Amino acid sequence: MSDTRIKQIHGRRVWDSRGRPTVEAEVELHNGVKARAIAPAGASTGSGEALDLRDGGTRFGGMDVGKACAAINGLISNHLAGLEIGDQAQLDSRLVALDGTSNRSRLGGNAMVATSMALLHAAAASAGQPLWRHLAGEKRVRLPLPEIQIFGGGAHAARRVDVQDFMIMCPAARSFGEALEWTAEVYRAAGALLKKSGNLRGVADEGGYWPVFGSNEQALDTLMQAILDAGLRAGEQVGISLDIAASEFGHSGRYELALEGRTLDSDGMIDMLGGWLDNYPILSIEDPLAEDDPEGFRLFTEAYGSQCQIIGDDFLVTNASRVLAAAEQGSANAVLIKPNQVGTLTEAHAALQAGKQAGFGTIVSARSGETEDVTIAHLSVGWDAGQLKVGSFSRSERMAKWNEVLRIEESMGSDACYWGWEALPIKRASDACN
Ligand code: PGA
Ligand code: ZN
Repeated sequence: MSDTRIKQIHGRRVWDSRGRPTVEAEVELHNGVKARAIAPAGASTGSGEALDLRDGGTRFGGMDVGKACAAINGLISNHLAGLEIGDQAQLDSRLVALDGTSNRSRLGGNAMVATSMALLHAAAASAGQPLWRHLAGEKRVRLPLPEIQIFGGGAHAARRVDVQDFMIMCPAARSFGEALEWTAEVYRAAGALLKKSGNLRGVADEGGYWPVFGSNEQALDTLMQAILDAGLRAGEQVGISLDIAASEFGHSGRYELALEGRTLDSDGMIDMLGGWLDNYPILSIEDPLAEDDPEGFRLFTEAYGSQCQIIGDDFLVTNASRVLAAAEQGSANAVLIKPNQVGTLTEAHAALQAGKQAGFGTIVSARSGETEDVTIAHLSVGWDAGQLKVGSFSRSERMAKWNEVLRIEESMGSDACYWGWEALPIKRASDACN
């Protein structure tokens, strides 16, 4: 029998897609298995998120992760060494207890999430299974509906436009692979349109084109044209998905739309977004209001929740009790799941399960600061989340995740089935596999 106890855990500094320091954890078992994972980092973070432990000072803009790596090499490794790998919930609860703070400021959310993910990888490797299969067990799981960014914006593009993500979804594709094919055509068509108008200026943080637009609506119009140019039917085959990330420009009921030089109150925001929903085939809107505006969320969901997925990101911060409260109050119908918002995979999974039980859409999501780590691709399939958000269709830290799901889809052979329309918490017949 191989010895599946943890031998040690090593923390090291590596670099993310913005050239900033981040934390990698490497778990070594007594049986020789080694497995590693890297923490991502957000730019538009919710105030309720787990804290990323950074060193401060002037080096690397204060963002070095020496303390977080030291926490892994010291406290975490010492505390977990000798324990059996495999019971993720138990190992994660040890991490939570060891940290002992409400915002993960002792060990650092970055040290905790890298460790939690590396532990899961070690368990899967030890069992000789791909991570998604290790999570799914015997259960039949489906391939996620991807949300893919075409234009960046907000905090990911120096606030060139207010809206953070202009994305598409391909719910009518017959497979995950076909959804990527359609997206590739739309991404290419959008680039050609920008080139023609002299507005092609490279890409933003998550790989979407840099948003040289005069208004948020102009970005939507260009997206519609790109879908048309790609030979696809907007609304029927391809839908629009927006991340407003309203906490970035809205506080205490005042929303400052810098691009248009206007300030709106909560009702004004709801009216503006409602107008967009009337004019464009928008299937999903994330953080339409700010995290401190739960009443706005409730009114927006009451008005539009039957026709559109309404996702809480900064608003729900991957927190199971916030998801339950939102379900009770009717203030969202979907939840974004970002493991580093909470610190451990067990807690992230609890938030996802709370969402599923409430009939919410559940979307496993990357951060704007990413790496070659593809753990979330496996989580989205293994947890049967239904949806996956990774950023755009360029830059290898994004493509690594899409490509990993393609490999998983291929490995499922004739069992492979795509979530399609059914992933969305809105009424629509599914024409995916049944
Ligand atoms: P972030 O943005 O990773 O910069 O926080 C992603 C999102 O808002 O969904
Ligand atoms: Zn968001």
